[in-house]
Amino acid sequence: MPLIPLIDSAELPPGTCREVVAAGKVFAVYNVDGQFHVLDGICPHAGGPLGKGTLRGDVVTCPWHGWQLNVTTGQHCLNSRICAVSYRAEVQNGQLCVQLD
Ligand code: FES
Repeated sequence: MPLIPLIDSAELPPGTCREVVAAGKVFAVYNVDGQFHVLDGICPHAGGPLGKGTLRGDVVTCPWHGWQLNVTTGQHCLNSRICAVSYRAEVQNGQLCVQLD
């Protein structure tokens, strides 16, 4: 299973998020109280940029139409049938990496 480096973890302080393109995919990376989380960066609603949303606590609000997802699981906050793909995040040598299956 390849481990893909996404960003220097120091560039993602607690409470922030970023969009990162790597390995031909768009990822949304989040730091919630020092814990890193990675979701597919494409919103499951209509393709909005989840890495450019607003992060409050562990919930991101998509900038396009306001869907709210829990960044630790990808789960939609109101509709349990909707879930963004989440990836295992890991910090190696200061780099936030994502584990691709
Ligand atoms: S594209 Fe994200 S809420 Fe519509």
